[in-house]
Amino acid sequence: MLYIIDTANLDDIKRCMEYFPVAGVTTNPTIISKEHTGFPDLIKAIRALIGDEKMLHIQTTGTDAQTIVKEAVLLRDFVGGDFYAKIPISPEGLKATMQLKKMGIKVTETAIFTQQQAMIAAQAGADFVAPYINRLDSIVSDGVHVVSEIVKMFNVHNIKSRVLAASFKNVEQIHKIALAGGHAVTISPELFNTLTYHPLTDRAIESFNADWQSVYGDKGVLDVFER
Ligand code: E4P
Repeated sequence: MLYIIDTANLDDIKRCMEYFPVAGVTTNPTIISKEHTGFPDLIKAIRALIGDEKMLHIQTTGTDAQTIVKEAVLLRDFVGGDFYAKIPISPEGLKATMQLKKMGIKVTETAIFTQQQAMIAAQAGADFVAPYINRLDSIVSDGVHVVSEIVKMFNVHNIKSRVLAASFKNVEQIHKIALAGGHAVTISPELFNTLTYHPLTDRAIESFNADWQSVYGDKGVLDVFER
């Protein structure tokens, strides 16, 4: 399962890329607006930071297929590299998706809340479908269940589209998506930290260090090899 960062904050992207195995970056208009800076410069800087090999998913804002297609082509040409046009699902979005696929532009169909939205997006050619886990959980639905059925449908029908699960608030949700066969998750920088934290891990490291220091003092592994 791929881990993707759901932010447009350059410092956070830089830090996460340094410390975690990150496959790319996703943004949406809300995420972009939080940075209070020029959009073209920001996405160009993200691409420069992550390099051409990593996925960069950038959302279109048009509401008709013609505008969505124009935006996707412009964004693809502007940022280059492994680019995905993130398109909210709608009839216009699906029309745009089918046209973009003919043009060889990759698409992530986003704002997915049901299994059939995912299915029809896949049939339109979406490379990824992005169901929103926590937003489903928040209305007493079950985001993990939706993803597990999407994965099952894609397997049964031999569909190549992949599931990029989004909208997470805790590690348990991420873990259950991994078990359900989700292909990728996009998570906040804060969740990358939470994902790797456990108080017992901290306690284990403290006790390893204390035992080592009781014999070798402040010397580390490198120091004890110095003659
Ligand atoms: C993903 O790309 C979505 O836009 C995003 O994860 C939504 O997350 P939220 O529900 O926390 O806003």
